[in-house]
Amino acid sequence: MAQEGGSPFLLSLFIFLFILSSLCDCHPHPAGSMGLMAAARAVSNHTARKVSDIAVEVADYTDVAKRIIDLAVFGAAQNRSHRRLADFTDTIGNRVSGSQNLEMAIKYMYNAMTQDGLDVHLEPVKIPHWVRGKESAEMIAPRAKGLAILGLGSSVGTPPEGIEAEVLVVQSFEELKRRASEATGRIVVFNQPFVSYEETVAYRAYGASEAAKVGAVATLIRSITPFSINSPHTGWQDYQDGVKRIPSACITIEDAELMWRMAQRGQKIVVRLTMGAKTLPDADSFNTVAEITGWEHPEQVVLLSGHLDSWDVGQGAMDDGGGAMISWEALSLIKDLGLRPRRTLRTVLWTAEEQGGVGAQQYYDLHKVNMSNFDLVMESDLGTFAPVALQFTGSDAARKVMAEVVKLLAPINTTTLEAYGEGTDISPWIRAGVPGASLHVADSRYFWFHHSEGDTMTVQDPQDMNLCSALWAVVAYVVADLQDMLPR
Ligand SMILES: *[C@@H]1O[C@H](CO)[C@@H](O)[C@H](O)[C@H]1NC(C)=O
Ligand SMILES: *[C@@H]1O[C@H](CO)[C@@H](O)[C@H](O)[C@H]1NC(C)=O
Ligand SMILES: *[C@@H]1O[C@H](CO)[C@@H](O)[C@H](O)[C@H]1NC(C)=O
Ligand SMILES: *[C@@H]1O[C@H](CO)[C@@H](O)[C@H](O)[C@H]1NC(C)=O
Repeated sequence: MAQEGGSPFLLSLFIFLFILSSLCDCHPHPAGSMGLMAAARAVSNHTARKVSDIAVEVADYTDVAKRIIDLAVFGAAQNRSHRRLADFTDTIGNRVSGSQNLEMAIKYMYNAMTQDGLDVHLEPVKIPHWVRGKESAEMIAPRAKGLAILGLGSSVGTPPEGIEAEVLVVQSFEELKRRASEATGRIVVFNQPFVSYEETVAYRAYGASEAAKVGAVATLIRSITPFSINSPHTGWQDYQDGVKRIPSACITIEDAELMWRMAQRGQKIVVRLTMGAKTLPDADSFNTVAEITGWEHPEQVVLLSGHLDSWDVGQGAMDDGGGAMISWEALSLIKDLGLRPRRTLRTVLWTAEEQGGVGAQQYYDLHKVNMSNFDLVMESDLGTFAPVALQFTGSDAARKVMAEVVKLLAPINTTTLEAYGEGTDISPWIRAGVPGASLHVADSRYFWFHHSEGDTMTVQDPQDMNLCSALWAVVAYVVADLQDMLPR
């Protein structure tokens, strides 16, 4: 073996100097105030670190959090996420899974985020391709009246001439079972009351199969919303294996209640339903990924996200254009301030969320090999109205860290940390034990517009979006820059 020149002493000196230089934090820290940071870093891992140390370390970000908030809410970036969302949704319109619009939307965001100076790439995904086609419904008896409908995602169509049948109106699955013998050959109308989205959505998801089991020829389901100005609301529905696939559409609250009242009076109701819906072979699409690479741990990731696809009605501004835009805006704010955290900030704009988190599931399957490097996964998909709190799922130790982080949001009055960070697209990570966070906004009107023609830019408020962006950016940046990853 060939010996290089140089004495053991010099080698030791080199090693000593190397260790010394790696102990000193030579990288300029944007949060300033090095004294407190150094104190917090004296103890080098989470198991060993006390809450007070974490509090000191996090408090050190007070100034940088203020700068992010000032830029987003009062400074040069004021209303930027709203302007970006308006330009995006006015240009592209809605963008359902499998559509040309969705592919245009992905190109648009790829270009826009690249021009913004972020590192952007696309990750291919196969997605469902359901098309609505032409559709209509009218009541023929006891009087002629047009019915506003929206076919449900994955529904089959009717024969070209439509389906004309007498209607059976029920208020629940239970009532349908009780009256099963009356359902044969009928169009079943579900007039279930709205309790909560989580509970009532079962009618949209399973109504068609439940009605088919008792011999119905089609279903019309009261829209899943607490409020209506004669607006039908679409969404995904699931056929059960081995059960006949019958056409399924939603109708308005007004028409569901009208038919219920008529049925109560013993009047015979006849409806004609025509739907051109069909499912085409899966389409090619992409998750859109933009990054600011971490300077110390580029392989460790704080993920921010929203979904780029929408339903094929309205503009998809609220669901989920807003969530996508604030997840981009957060990176812009951080970049504009010349900040770069220790870990990588990664914005993922999911594809085909509305079909059951298709893009997100594939992303998880592909990237879960690096699970231990995912520090925090964040999702905004309940609107970008005025932010109320951050919702968080994680260990008690992680929650203590996050409780300190949200204190930095005092300037925008959103210092509450709530339980249950959640979201369709981050749920695989959370189930696997990765800390997860979601945005709690003043969402009392969310389901008024959800999946309807009413989901347009008119629902969005610039100041609310500024606040959401500020919150999103502060939380992502600080967690990505802390000495340690969140404890599992
Ligand atoms: C963290 O610090 C504690 C106490 O100093 C030590 O026992 C433990 O091994 C350390 N863990 C890691 C992962 O470095
Ligand atoms: C931001 O939007 C608010 C509300 O519409 C408006 O009052 C304000 O002037 C806007 N600011 C900028 C910089 O456009
Ligand atoms: C896993 O992480 C490593 C290190 O950052 C990276 O090189 C690799 O591409 C990642 N793999 C996947 C599938 O994300
Ligand atoms: C936060 O609350 C204070 C006190 O109520 C109020 O003056 C301030 O305008 C609020 N800030 C924001 C951004 O809403």
